[in-house]
Amino acid sequence: MKIIVSRPRLLLIIVSLCTLPSTISKAMGSESRQPMASQPPAVLIIGSGISGIAAAQKLYAHGFRNLKVLEAKGRTGGRIWSQSYGKGFVELGAQWIHGPSPGNPIYQLALKYDLLDPEAMTMENQKVKVDGHLPLFRISYSSSGKIVSRELVANITELYSSWLEQSQSVSQKDCDPKASVGGFLQQKIASKEKDWDSANKDMKLALFKGLLDLECCISGTHSMNYVALCLYGEYTMLPGLDCTFPGGFESIVNQLKSSLPNDTILLNKTVKTVHWNGTFQGSDSQMYPVQVQCEDGETFEADHVIVTVSLGFLKEKASSFLSPALPPNKAQAIQNVGFGTNNKIILEFKEPFWDPDCKTIQLIWEGESPLLETKRNMKQDWVKKIPGFVVLERPERIGHMLCSFIAGDESEYMETLTDDEVLSSMTALLRQFTGNPELPAPIHMFRTKWHSEPYTHGSYSYIAVGASGDDIDILAQPLPNEGAKPLQVLFAGEATHRSFYSTTHGALLSGWREAERLIGRYQELDSLLNKSKL
Ligand SMILES: Cc1cc2nc3c(=O)[nH]c(=O)nc-3n(C[C@H](O)[C@H](O)[C@H](O)COP(=O)(O)OP(=O)(O)OC[C@H]3O[C@@H](n4cnc5c(N)ncnc54)[C@H](O)[C@@H]3O)c2cc1C
Ligand SMILES: *[C@@H]1O[C@H](CO)[C@@H](O)[C@H](O)[C@H]1NC(C)=O
Ligand SMILES: *[C@@H]1O[C@H](CO)[C@@H](O)[C@H](O)[C@H]1NC(C)=O
Ligand SMILES: *[C@@H]1O[C@H](CO)[C@@H](O)[C@H](O)[C@H]1NC(C)=O
Ligand SMILES: *[C@@H]1O[C@H](CO)[C@@H](O)[C@H](O)[C@H]1NC(C)=O
Ligand SMILES: *[C@@H]1O[C@H](CO)[C@@H](O)[C@H](O)[C@H]1NC(C)=O
Repeated sequence: MKIIVSRPRLLLIIVSLCTLPSTISKAMGSESRQPMASQPPAVLIIGSGISGIAAAQKLYAHGFRNLKVLEAKGRTGGRIWSQSYGKGFVELGAQWIHGPSPGNPIYQLALKYDLLDPEAMTMENQKVKVDGHLPLFRISYSSSGKIVSRELVANITELYSSWLEQSQSVSQKDCDPKASVGGFLQQKIASKEKDWDSANKDMKLALFKGLLDLECCISGTHSMNYVALCLYGEYTMLPGLDCTFPGGFESIVNQLKSSLPNDTILLNKTVKTVHWNGTFQGSDSQMYPVQVQCEDGETFEADHVIVTVSLGFLKEKASSFLSPALPPNKAQAIQNVGFGTNNKIILEFKEPFWDPDCKTIQLIWEGESPLLETKRNMKQDWVKKIPGFVVLERPERIGHMLCSFIAGDESEYMETLTDDEVLSSMTALLRQFTGNPELPAPIHMFRTKWHSEPYTHGSYSYIAVGASGDDIDILAQPLPNEGAKPLQVLFAGEATHRSFYSTTHGALLSGWREAERLIGRYQELDSLLNKSKL
């Protein structure tokens, strides 16, 4: 029997393997590495976002002691990124626990570690059914500097929400695979438009356009015409009133991290290529099926690698990131599933110009319509994609802050501008909409550049027209799935979760899923060995 050498404790296993019935030894693989009971397998995790950290934490808790997390950046957390500011935090990435209720593992962990404010922990808040309904903006300004009637805004928002709900329950059976959520909504709007009198028809269309632009931010896409209608309902919404972390979203990453030995995570360690399906000698002179090669030349050998890099990174680099290259169905799935940009522009004001109870501010561009494809002059018009602002919580800690979102091509264009250019456009925008040319300029700005971040290359995933839900499952499939050395390369990350993609809880669950895949594999091996010893 050809078995890898020179591990003293391995002898025992070789002996017992010889007594295994051939079916069992086939299942284990003639070159299977020794199970947990003997010596822990070497596992590498690429990426220290919530999915990578969750995988590491679960594996470590199950006795996997030969673990390393390789992270390209100088910090952990990935798309969870809390910048400390004043006496609090500003979130550059994830901000809300979406659906904080018993089914949300991020929420459960946050409760366990006591990371939330008391209001966020009440039963009433956990039971609120939002079902994707957009909250009604508190105040709505139009581009001519007027406040738009709240009744009109409420009517249009309600209509929009009911159509959006319909789009989430389209039956997959009789759905045209080329149909988009944007197309569905446009059709609804067009069918109603005929009945509107000319008095406020343009304002209604402009309102719909703004709501669609907001939806683009939520979905992380340039246009809702890119988002598949038939699969829109696959995304599962959990009940609960979205809440934030007073100590920053990163506090949950730090809690999970604290269960790992402090030399587990290696920062500034960019992985260039994952060589798999091979035989590589490690520094311990053992042979391993996988070798990870870093940009700085360092190499790591492993039995298993869990890849948690973003779908955006894979779209850019998939062809060189794995060697041998990914099988065609996986390469195709990487192309099919959508990944777009949503950025934040966060402005601090010396004094708030909004009311104390104001939580959101809507911007409505008169003359815009969701039924017209207008060619944009980016330099002048990029701000038109901003649907409004969220007033950030806890002003006593971080100051008076408004956070705007912007998605798609306009968002990527914004990343190319200087801070001064963005700040002056935002100041002009607010002066125009509030109708106050004297409105004091913001005193501080944060803005994200998620598309330019080379190790993320966008914000989050969505199911694009042309993709199928199966594509997400294909992204999650390990390599190889069978054979002598299965599970060499495993895949986790937000984009690999079929019903919670694009969220932190989806990412967390995907990391646990891959950890459990390995744990299950070694439990199987252990029990086969135990049987053979009897
Ligand atoms: C602006 C914004 C707002 C969001 N808001 C919310 C929200 O309110 N609520 C919510 O639930 N979710 C939100 N999300 C989504 C959420 O942040 C992500 O779904 C989640 O954090 C993704 O975790 P992950 O582990 O899958 O990926 P990541 O966090 O991206 O982790 C992947 C890690 O891999 C590293 N990496 C990449 N390439 C390499 C390489 N070659 N070598 C080594 N390391 C590498 C990266 O640096 C990164 O640290 C938001 C995201 C963005 C961008
Ligand atoms: C990572 O790189 C950054 C930038 O070069 C540096 O400031 C930081 O100290 C490095 N961190 C580690 C842990 O090497
Ligand atoms: C809002 O809807 C109600 C009920 O349909 C209607 O009576 C009212 O006129 C609408 N208001 C506006 C401003 O459109
Ligand atoms: C890890 O922790 C130990 C003990 O807490 C400490 O002595 C050591 O310096 C730490 N190592 C690193 C790399 O931080
Ligand atoms: C893996 O290696 C085996 C044997 O060396 C080879 O037959 C097979 O084609 C390889 N698989 C891939 C995906 O390269
Ligand atoms: C196998 O046997 C070992 C030692 O007796 C025991 O600790 C372990 O739990 C057993 N594993 C399984 C999966 O039964």
